[in-house]
Amino acid sequence: MTKPLRKVVFPVAGLGTRFLPATKVVAKEMLPVLDKPLIQYAVDEAVDAGADTLVFVTNRYKHAIADYFDKAYELEAKLEEKGKDELLALVQGTLPANVRAIFVTQPEAHGLGHAVLCAKPVVGNEPFGIILPDDLIWNRGKGALGQMAALAESEHAGVIAVEEVPHDQTDKYGIVDAEPVDQRSARIRYMVEKPKPADAPSNLAVVGRYVLPGRIFELLEQTEPGAGGEIQLTDAIEALLMEQGKVLAYRFEGTRFDCGNKAGLVRATMHMAMQDRQLAAVVRDFAAQL
Ligand code: UTP
Repeated sequence: MTKPLRKVVFPVAGLGTRFLPATKVVAKEMLPVLDKPLIQYAVDEAVDAGADTLVFVTNRYKHAIADYFDKAYELEAKLEEKGKDELLALVQGTLPANVRAIFVTQPEAHGLGHAVLCAKPVVGNEPFGIILPDDLIWNRGKGALGQMAALAESEHAGVIAVEEVPHDQTDKYGIVDAEPVDQRSARIRYMVEKPKPADAPSNLAVVGRYVLPGRIFELLEQTEPGAGGEIQLTDAIEALLMEQGKVLAYRFEGTRFDCGNKAGLVRATMHMAMQDRQLAAVVRDFAAQL
């Protein structure tokens, strides 16, 4: 892929059943890790990767995400009046001025592949990124998507984030069989969706970051519903691999927290708290008491 990445898609139309009853009214992506909702971490990573157009694929229950990135006139006026400049900057900084947010809806939850396909009219035929906000990836240096965008541009190939997972957990992930190129990247030979540990070709699991060419939309259109009657993104990436012969798996630099489940959200919260001197002391004291 020769062009730099400008557009990033956030598929956020899932039902978030693992966080019921909270997700009856609160979108999973609005759950906070300390003071920032998951979607803010994802947007910050996309902006760090150079994106100026963010495409949110939502459903009719998720107005809160659009509201969050919208201007909050009354609140901003109040903060300004009271001279609370730091808070005002926080409220105004959810989306940088040069970045636009576009919302499209996925009318029914037909799967991740289907959600991505809903972004086709906005993305068109150019390379783009995908971030699943419930996979929070923390890194001191460049964000995971930015690392991947640089590789996609220099290697002219689609790039998928992977991470080693315990062998007994392969049936929770898409697993790749790949030939190493260097320490971090490998050429994918094939991918299998949720294999049993005995059948898994490796323990390299696909996680929530992708950089793909616009061609993936046409391949998604041709993809038949797979497991669970859902249109699987993995199936379309497999078709891309057949066609282009090269898709890279990339072991990003950073720590991933699967905030799609409670344990991951607890870990992410503890980790972020430990980055702050005062909160780190709170965590240590409390852990000692426990
Ligand atoms: P998950 O598998 O985590 O599903 O989706 P979910 O509905 O969000 O959560 P649970 O499993 O019920 O708790 C992975 C990603 O794909 C998006 C989700 O929003 C999430 O970011 N997705 C999934 C869609 O946008 N549309 C779909 O039809 C399915």
